[in-house]
Amino acid sequence: MVTTATRLSVKKLGDALGAEMRGVDLSRPVPDDVFEQITAAWLEHIVIVFPDQKLSNEEHIQFSRRFGPLEIHPSRKHNVKNYPELLLLTNRKDAAGNYVSLRDGGSIWHSDLSYMAEPSRCSLLYAIDVPVNGGDTEWANMYKAYESLPQSLKDRIAGLRAVHQFDLVENPRFGPPVDMKPEELKGSIWEKKSAAVKARTPAVVHRIVRTHPVTGRKALFVSRRFTTHVADMEADEGEALLLDLFDRAERAEHIYHHRWSVNQLLLWDNRCTVHLACGGVPDSQIRTMQRTTVRGEAPV
Ligand code: SIN
Repeated sequence: MVTTATRLSVKKLGDALGAEMRGVDLSRPVPDDVFEQITAAWLEHIVIVFPDQKLSNEEHIQFSRRFGPLEIHPSRKHNVKNYPELLLLTNRKDAAGNYVSLRDGGSIWHSDLSYMAEPSRCSLLYAIDVPVNGGDTEWANMYKAYESLPQSLKDRIAGLRAVHQFDLVENPRFGPPVDMKPEELKGSIWEKKSAAVKARTPAVVHRIVRTHPVTGRKALFVSRRFTTHVADMEADEGEALLLDLFDRAERAEHIYHHRWSVNQLLLWDNRCTVHLACGGVPDSQIRTMQRTTVRGEAPV
């Protein structure tokens, strides 16, 4: 085991969740005892902000691999060239005026890749270009969301399962904004999924309440973006139940709001949070982020 005497500083960022960690250079191999400190802080605070990190693509990938095997995002075409493990989120356009990648991957509350049989354990998002206006991100604490439910509702959802799907067309709650021009659909979450993407992402069913495999705490595991309906329940009844759970989860007291700075790396736990990109970036400003997504385990 590689060890050092390094103690990292941990500063809590809010009541809902979140902490900032300083004292580690993630571009270098992280000693085991330092990684243990990071893991302990992450399990406690759920979202960890590492400021002032100068990371190459390889270094971002290498640090992410400490948490488990990395996913290649099922869309495939929104990856950084030659780095399939890195999802590129940017509002940059090419010379022809087309968006070069996904620009608004997360503008509806979601947990990354919850539509997979083994949803993501954690994500690591690195800020490369940060706009002056907009581009913030929010996370909601789904432990707190579950714990805040009245006992009658906890009893009602115990053992219930819900369907998660990647293709937004399958989601009864959303359709593209009516004033969206065809060229704006490209690179947005409304862009039509190809047959290949659909084949990689069949509908999956997960428990509405999952137990975190490490902390043993219960968390709500549903989101507006990917949870399309409650399994084995009449559609209207299931939708009313889900909308109630979403509204309760997204209450202000469960949320941490993050304003980005260049060279920040954020690590979060997808098993007990949902998040959303707040948007509001003017076309004249550039926002570029790169994300790794670590594979998790089937929820129980
Ligand atoms: C994401 O949904 O993973 C990214 C959120 C963001 O771009 O702020």
